[in-house]
Amino acid sequence: MIKIENLNKIFNENTKKEFHALKDISFEIDDYSCVLLKGISGSGKSTLLSIIGALSKPTSGSIIIDDENIAKLPDLYTSSFRASKLGFIFQSYNLFNHLDVKSNVLIPLIPLGFNQTQINKKVNKALELANITHKIDEIVLNLSGGEKQRVAIARALVNEPNIILCDEPTANLDLHNSKKFIEVIKKLKSLNKTIIIATHDPIFDTCDFVDKIINIKNGQIVE
Ligand SMILES: Nc1ncnc2c1ncn2[C@@H]1O[C@H](COP(=O)(O)OP(=O)(O)OP(=O)(O)O)[C@@H](O)[C@H]1O
Ligand SMILES: [Mg+2]
Repeated sequence: MIKIENLNKIFNENTKKEFHALKDISFEIDDYSCVLLKGISGSGKSTLLSIIGALSKPTSGSIIIDDENIAKLPDLYTSSFRASKLGFIFQSYNLFNHLDVKSNVLIPLIPLGFNQTQINKKVNKALELANITHKIDEIVLNLSGGEKQRVAIARALVNEPNIILCDEPTANLDLHNSKKFIEVIKKLKSLNKTIIIATHDPIFDTCDFVDKIINIKNGQIVE
């Protein structure tokens, strides 16, 4: 379970540019569930996702994941925490365009000390889950938008994380590829992953695998 309690994020605290981006956010996410974070642009979705993903620290409050308060996790440990538990799928993919698909997907495995055989096995499994195996040797630059996203999905899955965080995953996809993305999420749900999706795409509104919708407005949860 992920338990978020009284979370606040203030950017540029005690300066003229001070901005209270998250205000006293509290909610829980059950294991193996799929949660949508919804809200208009600037409401705080990405800020919240980056804190849940231990990419940034809250100003106050706690995020308990597997009995560990990651708000208090020393920076030295956040990358190994991410490597063992989390997969990220970003809107802009964040891929290395001049490397091939395989090299991009195996990057999260590098610090984990696997041998070549183990790496190949894990990469192939992730590519298969994301339906992009046929492009394994292609340079990312040559892929379509939907294919790039599937590479990003494979990279997010390669370390077999239990929690998958998606930030506007369909923002750069056409309807056909958005539907394909939803199929992948469905599959991940059936594999008992916990999934959090920040989005304003109405395509998710009709997905029966969504267990909870959290609406955020001006950094606060609204009903
Ligand atoms: N590093 C930062 N410094 C100052 N302000 C920031 C910073 N990051 C985000 N903000 C502000 O916090 C607010 C929430 O931003 P956030 O990116 O979380 O919104 P969002 O809901 O993800 O929006 P979008 O749908 O456009 O992605 C915005 O007003 C933004 O300008
Ligand atoms: Mg955002």
